Amino acid sequence: MIPRNIINKVINETDIVEVISEYVQLQPRGKSMFGLCPFHDDQNPSMSVSREIKMFNCFSCNTKGNVIDFVAKYENINVDKATLKLAKRLGMNIQYRQSAEDIRNEKRYQIMEEATRFYEFYLRNSKEGQVALEYLAKRGITDEMIKRFRIGLAPSEINYLHFALNEKQVDFLDQVELGLVRENKETGPYDLFRSRIMFPLSDAYGRVVGFSGRIYLAGDNNAKYINSPESSFFHKSNLLYNLHQATVHAKRIDKIYLFEGFMDVLAADLAGIKNAVATMGTALTKEHVNTLISITKNIVLCFDGDQAGIMASKRAAELFVPTKVLPQVVVLPEGLDPDDYRKKYGDLALSEYLNTASVNIYEFLFQDAKRDLVLDDLNSVEKFRNAVFGFIRMSRSQTVKDFFLKKMSETLGISLDSLAKDFGFMKEDITPVPSTKPVYFSKTKSKFSKGVINAYELIIYRAMLSVTDYFQIIMDLSIVHPRPDYLKYHNFLEYMSKFITDGVFEEERFVEKIKDDEILHGVYQDVMTKPHPDYDKPKYLEDCIEKVRENAERDLRMFMIRTLENDHDLYDLLLKQKRENTTFENEVE
Ligand code: CTP
Ligand code: MN
Repeated sequence: MIPRNIINKVINETDIVEVISEYVQLQPRGKSMFGLCPFHDDQNPSMSVSREIKMFNCFSCNTKGNVIDFVAKYENINVDKATLKLAKRLGMNIQYRQSAEDIRNEKRYQIMEEATRFYEFYLRNSKEGQVALEYLAKRGITDEMIKRFRIGLAPSEINYLHFALNEKQVDFLDQVELGLVRENKETGPYDLFRSRIMFPLSDAYGRVVGFSGRIYLAGDNNAKYINSPESSFFHKSNLLYNLHQATVHAKRIDKIYLFEGFMDVLAADLAGIKNAVATMGTALTKEHVNTLISITKNIVLCFDGDQAGIMASKRAAELFVPTKVLPQVVVLPEGLDPDDYRKKYGDLALSEYLNTASVNIYEFLFQDAKRDLVLDDLNSVEKFRNAVFGFIRMSRSQTVKDFFLKKMSETLGISLDSLAKDFGFMKEDITPVPSTKPVYFSKTKSKFSKGVINAYELIIYRAMLSVTDYFQIIMDLSIVHPRPDYLKYHNFLEYMSKFITDGVFEEERFVEKIKDDEILHGVYQDVMTKPHPDYDKPKYLEDCIEKVRENAERDLRMFMIRTLENDHDLYDLLLKQKRENTTFENEVE
């Protein structure tokens, strides 16, 4: 991080008009200079640049800032890089100390860059590479795209990358930490990715932070894709494939497409659509949503037309509620993904479909609910009505609610009045959400364990799926005394009980109720937006409960040890209470 005073010096001494003129033609108008805004598709000059206040401001797309912001945005580089660039222009020699973490990360980026180059080189300069290139050509991926997306090949050989990195003096531990190489106690180091076409995954600045590798050989029965392992450096939950390239296009066109698979981004690119990104095989998260919204408010979600895709759009709708942005949804026909569609109908048809066939997400959910509706079957009608109630409750807009109530009334031939009454009636009041006040060890330092959070989230996920499991969970956890950090999960589970009627958990009503409780709603969002890969493992629920229980006991022991040093009376009390095996929360407080 460059210190603030140096940044201010650069801003003050730089002539903003001169710098921006190097990118955009500016004309004087009044006190300011005006030009076409490069951050959206500008027809009339709507960006003003003021030498006096040292700012630029676009009246149309609302992008504004100082000269460093402009350069950083335009060139898609971070603020530090933009500052250095402008300082150089001024002939300033900036001395600043990077933090240890910055230096570490610099090194990590460099190693990932070396690996990327190695894979790129191997694709072009090996026998195996010829086969891989043929595979890519068959999928329609051009040579130019291979370069631009930096596609490469991981050799079939056990540790070529490891050797190549050794050649470059890359530490073995760094190779392991970045998930490129692993150690086998008997046979030695081996490359994680082998015999795979390699797709580098970059951050918003185009720096490679991970890889996804796809099988390409006929008869290869390994997993279709493998990704770099999660680490503090590489998070799939905030990564969007192609973000660094798509941003400029998305700003100019004022629209961004989000796909489910990164191959679909390549398919869209072939069809001339360059404002497209994809999640990396994970559910959409808050972080993704925030990133997308910071680029443009016109977001088009392109989900697969299957059941999973519909679930995904329900979750997406949920995630977008607090942002007040209403995304569009487009679903390709015949259950095709963009890549399949392109193959079948051609580039032009794909771009046309994506450009014209989107509907807003509520409309999409309405159409989905209507699909199985049988008008003279009361059960079917109620199911439809409840589905619509469910998603319009997620919205905070009265207009959205009224709009769909009216639409439903027309569809069903039932009076708007009755539906509105039902809608209000089903929202009958329930006791308020409990607060999550810490009960004990409020003075000990919080330290979250990822494993425990994971376990809690999986437990809650399961509890929402099955009422039988829910009751088992409640019983098993009733004897657990969590530390305050984890109390929210217990409160969440407890509060769920108020929404179980006739053996069914009414999730939509529950969500509506916790909507304004930051903590409980946060838990819900975390649970709904994480992938649940181990869901089918028979013992997984038990394992999670065991994990939570063990952890709580360990915390309790730690707490007692620490307390012993400071408060002998309290320790005695705890010990006594524990011996009697009763609850002690209140006394300690
Ligand atoms: N994915 C994964 N592991 C798998 C399968 C899929 O991580 N075994 C992730 C990948 O990020 C992929 C996304 O899920 O991009 C979508 O999967 P899928 O639809 O199966 O892949 P496609 O995009 O259709 O890829 P292809 O056309 O190469 O089969
Ligand atoms: Mn595909």
